[in-house]
Order: sequence, then C-alpha cells, then structure tokens
Amino acid sequence: MSILVTGGAGYIGSHTCIELMNAGYDVVVLDNFYNCKREALRRIKELSGKEFKFYECDIRDRKGLDHIFQNEQIDCVIHFAGLKAVGESVVKPLEYFDNNVGGTVTLLEAMRDNGCKKIVFSSSATVYGMDNVSPLKEDMPVGGVTNPYGRTKLMIEEILRDLYRADSSWSIILLRYFNPIGAHKSGRIGEDPNGIPNNLMPYITQVAIGKLECLSVYGDDYDTPDGTGVRDYIHVVDLALGHVKAVEKAAEAAGLHTYNLGTGKGYSVLDMVHAFEKASGVKINYKIVGRRAGDIGTCYSDPSLAKKELDWEAQRDLEEMCEDSWRWQKNNPNGYPDD
Ligand code: NAD
Ligand code: WQD
Repeated sequence: MSILVTGGAGYIGSHTCIELMNAGYDVVVLDNFYNCKREALRRIKELSGKEFKFYECDIRDRKGLDHIFQNEQIDCVIHFAGLKAVGESVVKPLEYFDNNVGGTVTLLEAMRDNGCKKIVFSSSATVYGMDNVSPLKEDMPVGGVTNPYGRTKLMIEEILRDLYRADSSWSIILLRYFNPIGAHKSGRIGEDPNGIPNNLMPYITQVAIGKLECLSVYGDDYDTPDGTGVRDYIHVVDLALGHVKAVEKAAEAAGLHTYNLGTGKGYSVLDMVHAFEKASGVKINYKIVGRRAGDIGTCYSDPSLAKKELDWEAQRDLEEMCEDSWRWQKNNPNGYPDD
C-alpha cells in the first residue's frame, strides 16, 4: 500500500514516514520546503534504510498534485502540510487561510478527481477551544478557538465532515494532536524551528544548549497545582505510530472518525522544566512572567477512544520525551544544516 505524505519532511511528517516504512508501507513524500530542510529527507532515508519517492510540490498547485496522483498509485493520503505558528497566524490570517484551508480544498479535489478517497488529517487539540473542561473527549463541542491558525483546523474539520456527508465512500480520519515533543531515538531527526521557538520544549532545549538565555514561564496564577499551564505532552514517535494505526483504520472501511492522540496525562510548565533538568543534567534558567494571550490553564486528552478503536496507546513517558528532545538538540545545536 502506498501512502502520500504531504508535509512529510516536517517535524511530525519525518517521524511518521519512518514508522510507515518500518510497518511495510510504500511512502511518497510531498513538501514545498517552506518550513523544513532537504537534509531531513536524507536522514529519513538513512534511518529507514528504504528508498521513497519525493515531489517538491505545493498543495495549492493542482497541476503538480495531478502529476503525482497520475504517476503514483496512491492508496491513502496523510495530510500534514500546513502553517502552524499561532502568533504568526494572527498577523497573517489570509496566508493561513490560503495555505491551510485553500491548500486542503485543492488537495481534496485532486484526490477525488484521481480516485483516492482516503485521508488522515492533522487536526489539533486547539479545536476544543476555551470552553471545554479537560479531559477532552472527541464528542465535546468544538469551537471557541482564539486565533486564525486554530480556525483553519476547525474549518478543515468542517469541510471534511461536509465532504463525507456528501459522499460516504470517503474514509476520513481526523487526528487531534495534543503537544508533540521528543525526537527519534537516534538524535538524527527532530523539531527544527525557525527563529525563536514558540513552543515550550524547543525553547527549553535552546536554553539548555545556550542559544537562549532564559525561559519565560507564561503565568503562575492558573488554577493548576503549581499555577503554571498544564498540557498533554506526547512523544512524536508515539504520535507517528498513531498515524500507522489510522491508515489501517482508513483502509478497513469507508467512514469518518475522530481521535485524540495524547497520553491523557497533564504536566505543568514547571514539571517540564524539572523533568528536562533531570533527564539532561542541565539547569534551566527561567523567570515567571505574565500570561500569554489566548492560553488556557489546563488542556489534556481522554485518549480512550483511540485505544479502543485504533488499538493505539502512547508508550513513551516524560523522561524519554525529555531525553530524546535533548539528544536531538545536543547533536544538532543549529538544527539541520542548510541545503
Ligand atoms: P512542520 O512545519 O514541521 O511540518 C509541516 C510541513 O509542511 C513542513 O515541512 C512545510 O514545509 C510543509 N508545508 C507547509 N505548507 C505547505 C504547502 N502549501 N505545500 C507543501 N508543503 C507545505 O509542522 P509539524 O509540527 O510537523 O506539523 C504537521 C501538521 O500537524 C501541521 O498541519 C500542524 O498544524 C499539525 N499540528 C502540529 C502540532 C504541533 O505542535 N507540532 C500540533 C497539532 C497539529
Ligand atoms: C505549552 C505551555 C505555555 C512557551 C500550541 C498551539 C496548539 C498546538 C500545540 C498546533 C503553555 C507555556 C510556552 C514559553 C511558556 N499546535 N509556555 N513559555 O500553547 O499548548 O499549544 O502548540 O496545533 O495549537 O497553540 O503549546 O508549547 O506553546 O505551550 O511558559 O516560552 O508552556 O503558556 O502553558 P500550546 P506551547
């Protein structure tokens, strides 16, 4: 079976390509290199020991997509490609709607017209918005998102639900990721943010390596055990393995399913700092500052539906997440080398 992985050279995509090939799938990668380096592709090859096809293509390029579907026998698409910086999306909403929503519509049209109707989509816990109380379950109402990035995920979910209502021969799996961190055990692939990281773990690892001076902890007055924000961090390899299970599910029968991919456990910002210090042996300099706009106090999943229906459960604990994040950062202080 052949899987087209859009955004396959990115952080989650690169780890997923390896697990797909380990599971015996043929992989075709599409990326436009907007937020990744070519070196990631070389390392996917190195770690999997397998060859795969790569197309430099934008998901908004209908002709480019048709070329791929006509050249390859694609059975299922895993759709990672998209822009993901929350703060940037507030400043550049049109770019986010064009790339994420417009790009997905073009991809879906190309799939339909080329007879491929199976898709696994990268959604996000952000669709649960501000109003639901954790643990978050798939049947809770979505909405109330605080930024254009989150709205693109919500809109794409709605588009996919409408598509399935109109044509029930589609297989659609919506995966709502919680907070992916960690890296492949080898330390050869990992998250390589551009500029100053927005997310907690890459910020911590860059403080540890000496590229950044001090972590700002955004608020210690939340209604949480230590007052700092609580999240459901999940190892990126566990997340990647969840995609392998989702592809199996999509292949079984037509349908639309939604699954949380999380661990079900919440850790605070200070828990993360201390766990990282323990795993790395490096002290993290931090200071408490005011809350970050749009943040909520607590967000973690109920992951039981994915366990029941996908036979998937996260296996890697916080210590392993921190060790693997640190190994990647230490071995690649400047991320991937330039192309
Ligand atoms: P990433 O930026 O590392 O990977 C996305 C990849 O898509 C990049 O390689 C980029 O070059 C590519 N891309 C972007 N726009 C494209 C386009 N128009 N055409 C072709 N390629 C394009 O991000 P990631 O962390 O691996 O996230 C993957 C997906 O998961 C995204 O859709 C993201 O919104 C979603 N997600 C991520 C997180 C997270 O915290 N990392 C959480 C929830 C959901
Ligand atoms: C985690 C915790 C911060 C940075 C974001 C997106 C979400 C999803 C995952 C894509 C929070 C605190 C952070 C820092 C801090 N992405 N923090 N200092 O906000 O849960 O989710 O990434 O879909 O949509 O919103 O993740 O890593 O930014 O923050 O104190 O420098 O760490 O306040 O409590 P978040 P995060």
